[in-house]
Amino acid sequence: MKRNLKAVLADRLRLEELELLYRSYDVIGDIAIIRIPDALKHRSKAIAEAIMQIQKHVKTVLRQVSPVSGDLRLRRVEWVVGEKKVESLHKEHGCLFKIAHERCYFSPRLSHERMRISQQVQSGEVIVNMFSGVGCYSIMIAKHSAVEKVYSIDINPVAVRYMQENVKLNKVGGRVIPIEGDAKNIIQESLQNVADRVLMPLPERAYEYLGYAVQALKQKGGWIHYYDFEHARKDESSVEKVKVKVVERLQNLGVDSEIPFGRIVRTTGPNWYQVALDVHLTNLL
Ligand SMILES: C[S@@+](CC[C@H](N)C(=O)[O-])C[C@H]1O[C@@H](n2cnc3c(N)ncnc32)[C@H](O)[C@@H]1O
Repeated sequence: MKRNLKAVLADRLRLEELELLYRSYDVIGDIAIIRIPDALKHRSKAIAEAIMQIQKHVKTVLRQVSPVSGDLRLRRVEWVVGEKKVESLHKEHGCLFKIAHERCYFSPRLSHERMRISQQVQSGEVIVNMFSGVGCYSIMIAKHSAVEKVYSIDINPVAVRYMQENVKLNKVGGRVIPIEGDAKNIIQESLQNVADRVLMPLPERAYEYLGYAVQALKQKGGWIHYYDFEHARKDESSVEKVKVKVVERLQNLGVDSEIPFGRIVRTTGPNWYQVALDVHLTNLL
């Protein structure tokens, strides 16, 4: 079993410094991305070297120096130790994703969620992925199902370039179709009533874009995989709160819906949660 970071650093950091350490970090291919509190900045090198000692395949450690922010969902990073690079090749459930950190969004923490959606896709489906990034959901679906096409939109030209490369790497050309642009414009211009399933993996704006997701669905209806952030006290359910607001919004759009499944994908802060809903829509005529 791999030793944890605190144990490896026990003889290199003082006790009060160990208390400040974040336990988790992302490993994306051979790059590790860590968060280090400012009070431990002078210990960055020791922490990064400890990670390389634990994760033998890691060649570069980067420190995240800003939160994930902006429409493109990017985080700033700075080099700490190892090879000076910001690009890595990540393996996930038999797929390969090339990613330029800082220039495109990627989170290995959504791996389970990507697989969960892939397993629901039926043979011959057409899918619109409104916020595709470097293509992770789309490629995973193409690799693990007999999907016909996944129209894969992203507004970030760098992410679309990497998605094109990832489509080639994973040999899913012709089935995953990368499209650069704003999902609302692309759907209105060329993807109305085409989809059996729509993916909305941008929790910050999914609610605002829900009407466009409905427009992308075939008139017989289909599924929307909806993501949101929600606050919930101990006596509340974040999943129920998101369900209520989505059902209300869809009612206002004149659409019948049911939500047979919802889950917390991850905790994002004290009493804040990322929620996923599988929304089934009928009667779009
Ligand atoms: C949270 S990331 C998710 C990326 C990818 N689905 C994944 O799981 O790795 C959201 C993505 O939406 C893109 N985006 C933001 N606003 C958009 C818009 N209006 N239309 C299309 N893409 C958008 C960002 O560039 C970013 O790549």
